[in-house]
Amino acid sequence: MNIKKNIILTGFMGTGKTYTGRALARRLGTNFIDTDALIEKEAGIPISEIFEKFGETRFRELEREVVKRVSAEKGMVIAVGGGAIVNPDNLAALKRNGLIINLTASPEVILSRVERNSDRPLLQVEDKVGKIKELLEKRAPYYEKADITVNTDGKTTEQVAEEILRIVSSKP
Ligand code: S3P
Repeated sequence: MNIKKNIILTGFMGTGKTYTGRALARRLGTNFIDTDALIEKEAGIPISEIFEKFGETRFRELEREVVKRVSAEKGMVIAVGGGAIVNPDNLAALKRNGLIINLTASPEVILSRVERNSDRPLLQVEDKVGKIKELLEKRAPYYEKADITVNTDGKTTEQVAEEILRIVSSKP
């Protein structure tokens, strides 16, 4: 399939944006961009360290700049960090050339996917599932602005990629 627009993967931490994005790009024979990976590469330090040293505000500035740049691409699969589309400028930029796909999962599944690693600064708290639920509720109105929502609970990466391809190919 030849895609003209970008396919943008958004959704909460642990919904599989990066894995799904890689699988989708491979199937489509196109490139995959992960904005978090790009931010880390350019900053030369992991995201957890950006938060620690410079704070979330600085991270959001770097994110905005990277989102603006990747939004100019065409025909790519792009995964953005879970908080990116909370900023209306980011959402508008991504929408201009892209179809926004929101990946979802239940708080328990999200917890099981993220609890082993310490690379999510927003989830370094005692009550992780409580924090996940609180953030999910706060972000729901933003994630709802996506064009398509795909639930990932109990599905493999390949199944999710397959489902997205089916939906995308049925769109005019
Ligand atoms: C964030 C999600 C992370 C990363 C940063 C902030 C968020 O990306 O951008 O830690 O605000 O939800 P993933 O969704 O890829 O984990």
